Amino acid sequence: TYIVTDNCIKCKYMDCVEVCPVDCFYEGENMLVIHPDECIDCGVCEPECPAEAIVPDTEPGLESWLELNTKFAEVWPNITEKREPPADAAKFDGEKGKLEKYFS
Ligand code: SF4
Ligand code: F3S
Repeated sequence: TYIVTDNCIKCKYMDCVEVCPVDCFYEGENMLVIHPDECIDCGVCEPECPAEAIVPDTEPGLESWLELNTKFAEVWPNITEKREPPADAAKFDGEKGKLEKYFS
């Protein structure tokens, strides 16, 4: 499966949602997650994310992000259409440790 990681937080560009063939993105206040059980591993969303926040969960060290995607995909609403990203998205692009600072 693919998952969404730290750099999505407060960037939330949403380019990813429109390309997903199975509509498995879910929306929180300041980031999206992928439902790992619904993702068919097609990989088309990965290059669409300007923040490079989408990665395959086969990369090492991503257990906590897989857990976070799994947990919140069950409670957040589904999102299939891109809206305007936050006006200050670029300001947060690339900042480290966004989960601790801003996650909600
Ligand atoms: Fe959707 Fe494919 Fe991305 Fe999985 S890898 S979230 S199925 S676009
Ligand atoms: Fe987030 Fe990238 Fe999608 S910033 S909302 S994963 S396009």
